[in-house]
Amino acid sequence: MSNVESNLEDIQKVAKINAGKNLKYSILTMGCQLNENDSEKLSGMIEKMQYTKTEDLSKADLIVFNTCCVRENAEDKLFGKLGEVKKYKEEKGTIIAIGGCMMQEKHIVEKLKESYPFFDIVFGTHTLHQFPSNLYSILTNNKRIEDILDIDGEIIEGLPIKRDDTVKASVTIMNGCNNFCSYCIVPYVRGRERSRLPKDILLEVNKLAEEGYKEITLLGQNVNSYLRVEKENNVSFEEYEGVNSFATLLRAINKIDGIERIRFVSPHPKDFTQDVIEAIRDCDKVCKLIHLPLQSGSTNMLKLMNRKYSKEQYLDLVKKMKNEIPNVTFSTDIIVGFAGETQEDFEDTLEVVKEVKFEQVYMFIYSRRVGTPGDRMENQVPDEVKHERFEKLKQLVEKQIEERNKQYVGTIQKVLVEGKSKNNDQMLTGRTDSNKVVVLEGPENLIGKIEDLKIVSEHMWYLKGQLK
Ligand code: SAH
Ligand code: SF4
Ligand code: F3S
Repeated sequence: MSNVESNLEDIQKVAKINAGKNLKYSILTMGCQLNENDSEKLSGMIEKMQYTKTEDLSKADLIVFNTCCVRENAEDKLFGKLGEVKKYKEEKGTIIAIGGCMMQEKHIVEKLKESYPFFDIVFGTHTLHQFPSNLYSILTNNKRIEDILDIDGEIIEGLPIKRDDTVKASVTIMNGCNNFCSYCIVPYVRGRERSRLPKDILLEVNKLAEEGYKEITLLGQNVNSYLRVEKENNVSFEEYEGVNSFATLLRAINKIDGIERIRFVSPHPKDFTQDVIEAIRDCDKVCKLIHLPLQSGSTNMLKLMNRKYSKEQYLDLVKKMKNEIPNVTFSTDIIVGFAGETQEDFEDTLEVVKEVKFEQVYMFIYSRRVGTPGDRMENQVPDEVKHERFEKLKQLVEKQIEERNKQYVGTIQKVLVEGKSKNNDQMLTGRTDSNKVVVLEGPENLIGKIEDLKIVSEHMWYLKGQLK
């Protein structure tokens, strides 16, 4: 029996036990978009097993944590919440399942067993599809389960999925990462880079288009090296509609009727080949906001971080794209206070920020991760210096965003209307091609449509738009 067949069979077995019981589940997603996409698959399986969703943890019969360990504060979130759910376990026997990246860290699972021994299932990043079988075991013999693989699991196609949104959808195109940036835990918890087959991705996107989705975000830790590892290792794979690289994948998705926008995160600057630049330029549906993680603007730091490009190479790439792709803009990720960072190194980062003028900067204070080379480095930057630098970068970024937002006022922007505004349900919200949030007044039937809006005012985190 294939993995997906046994998955579907286990789902049926649990559904039979649960039928008619009106059971509820909650899922807490603590990580990145890949983690969110995994949660959508977990939710898909869980709903087929006869649970309905609730946000109220006290009402849930099953609580699933999908954890992240990229920084310390992501880990703290889990421990805080576990303290809270302990009482539900004691009062009503709620099933507690903890999965995701953090569970791939041995010291964390040990800590759970020692300090939070009331959990029922822990599962890692390679065994998502076995969740129904694990749940079946808990329901039938109630023995605590650890389902964590150290080796890379294969990619399982065809799992049920319950998507969070009706306009935008994420499609994971590859798992794992081979880059081993020296600060980063991801390669240790997500395993080696493996790409999904072109056919599986295109069938998924076609189905999304049929279901009415307008925007697709292609996900992976290093999307622009899609299928590269396979080619380097002479692993044979079947091409489909001419797709054999990231560039050809963009071109193929661009042809799918119904899909109107294509985004992707995250590419790595070192893998930005000419064919990808040309595909972005040629494909009208590919958004011209490119997320291009910088991490640091100092060549010394980039070397220590194992990023494989220099400050100059990064700036040259930006310049090249600005020359070749009309209206291209950039967003980025930056880490401050990595081990060994001097004041001069930090100033190099500020300089690059000033030069590129990013649309958005996701800023992080370096967080030491057990098992990574960064954690073993001497010259760790003291906390107060990290915080000072972070504040300084934040001020610069906010000033730049304010200036950039002002340039939008008076312009006409194509906005994909995504839904009602979370803060005010009289208003709608959407995004520009450059991923700026735009709030507008208008009828609900605009949801899912791309509208020309006149930008009338700017606020730090959003723009206000008017229908023309
Ligand atoms: N694969 C993607 C994203 C990885 S995680 C990429 O390479 O861009 C998202 C971001 O978290 C990273 O880009 C980095 O800026 C940040 N990050 C990763 N490890 C970190 C750490 N130990 N401390 C602080 N920030 C970190
Ligand atoms: Fe982490 Fe670097 Fe891989 Fe991104 S590319 S996931 S930062 S190791
Ligand atoms: Fe976190 Fe795992 Fe994503 S560590 S950032 S949830 S890949």
